[in-house]
Amino acid sequence: MNEYRVVMVPGDGIGPEVSAAVQRILEAAGARIAWVERPAGLAAVEKGLEPLPEETVATIREHSVALKGPCTTPVGEGFTSVNVGLRQALNLYAAVRPVRSLDGVETRYRDVDIVIVRENTEGLYSGIENEITEGVVTSLKVATEKASTRIAEWAFRYSKDRGLKKVTVFHKANIMKLSDGLFIRCARAVHEARFPELEYQEVIIDAGCMRLVQDPSQFQVLLLENLYGDVVSDLCAGLVGGLGVVPGANIGDSCAVFEAVHGSAPDIAGQGKANPLALLMSAVMMLNHLATTHGDEGCGQVGTRIKAAYNEALAQGQKTRDIGGSLGTEEFATAVIDRLDG
Ligand code: NAI
Repeated sequence: MNEYRVVMVPGDGIGPEVSAAVQRILEAAGARIAWVERPAGLAAVEKGLEPLPEETVATIREHSVALKGPCTTPVGEGFTSVNVGLRQALNLYAAVRPVRSLDGVETRYRDVDIVIVRENTEGLYSGIENEITEGVVTSLKVATEKASTRIAEWAFRYSKDRGLKKVTVFHKANIMKLSDGLFIRCARAVHEARFPELEYQEVIIDAGCMRLVQDPSQFQVLLLENLYGDVVSDLCAGLVGGLGVVPGANIGDSCAVFEAVHGSAPDIAGQGKANPLALLMSAVMMLNHLATTHGDEGCGQVGTRIKAAYNEALAQGQKTRDIGGSLGTEEFATAVIDRLDG
């Protein structure tokens, strides 16, 4: 494979632990990556910087690709989310999160294979909140035709390129007639004009969630606005073994940031027991992205080797505690490295 410079943002909580494990696996697999480390989140604040330093954003902009650990966001007070800020600053408008059943990870279902496509830049996450008077606040949900059409095009294109046949929009347009109404109208228009060969379905989100937990195999690609995508991602993670096994990518026209769906897990941080698999899977998505955007077959092959190795480890019961095993973060990384062929 070619050599790439990739920005690494270790993040907070379990972030540095899982990042180090993933870097070790990538190196052992022969991934030729020169890491450019930059801080964000509490890690940046502790260095006397802004939570999302402009230098970190600029470095990602310069190198186009980053692998990012989770960043803590204070609840109900303090600085605004670094994750939301980064997605907005780099216009990473599409969040894609493949959720798949894994051999060796026992769950209620064996056949989950869903890709979540989440609009990543607007909705209620625009962060426009006002306290009108004491005890009364408003939070503005922003929906634009431009962003709604752009994410619908992205989801249908992604589905078509991968041979996926069905796209389902989860919405609440019965209540939010204007904002969610716009979102589904844009999806419908993109479907009719450009992808009529794909199956398209609209489902009210509450009923959709019930159907997801009853029979997830009925869904293939889920297209959602920002908040719904965030919530449904974790719901879907629960279908396949939890947050330790679901990767993600935030993609824009000129940059891509790969990160797990999970957060900084302060409850287990520093104990060496976090599952690095979700970030490892995100790193494999990153290698596939580099392979596609640079026509670099060798890079894709490194990703395939890592995937085969972690699948083999899981199938042989080599797992971290969150998915029923007994390994720590580093032990799991070693188990994957031991299974890398060649
Ligand atoms: P969380 O995802 O950090 O943790 C939820 C539960 O899942 C915890 O019990 C945790 O121990 C477990 N868990 C998560 N990842 C795991 C892993 N890799 N291995 C084993 N167990 C794992 O969600 P929570 O507690 O709601 O959020 C904590 C912080 O993370 C908050 O400050 C939140 O804002 C932030 N966050 C950051 C994200 C990001 O940077 N993309 C995404 C989600 C949350």
